[in-house]
Amino acid sequence: MSERDARAVPQRLLEQAREVSEHAHSPYSGARVGAAVRCGEERVFIGCNVENASYGLTQCAERNALNAAIAHGIKRGEMDEMVIYASGFQRLSPCGACRQVMIELMAPDAVVHCCNEGGEVSSWSVNQLFPEPFVLE
Ligand code: THU
Repeated sequence: MSERDARAVPQRLLEQAREVSEHAHSPYSGARVGAAVRCGEERVFIGCNVENASYGLTQCAERNALNAAIAHGIKRGEMDEMVIYASGFQRLSPCGACRQVMIELMAPDAVVHCCNEGGEVSSWSVNQLFPEPFVLE
């Protein structure tokens, strides 16, 4: 894990992640998580966590953002950077399921930043988040 100055996080992406976190459907945990993924220079897709009374059906913000990018025609390897904003966590790092999806879809050197309400930031490459992944080529 590496700590970064909050100024190293792209502010537009952070703002989009923060805004979409307000749309979280999280009546069970109360956690509000937003993710914004940048694809190339211009395109950004967003997602928030969506919980369900059948708890295991909960979708994390990260996977919802990545799935939105795919639905808009973005291809594997074209997702370059993600900012995740979370309230309700002291410190967030992506769950295992999201890491598996990140490693499949994002560029190998893509960077993921997690930001909390207090302005603390942790940043990793997707390779750092999930070394030795399961892949089918
Ligand atoms: N959650 C995310 O959206 N992303 C993460 O990286 C970890 C957890 C959500 C899922 C659930 O709605 C809530 O946070 C508590 O686990």
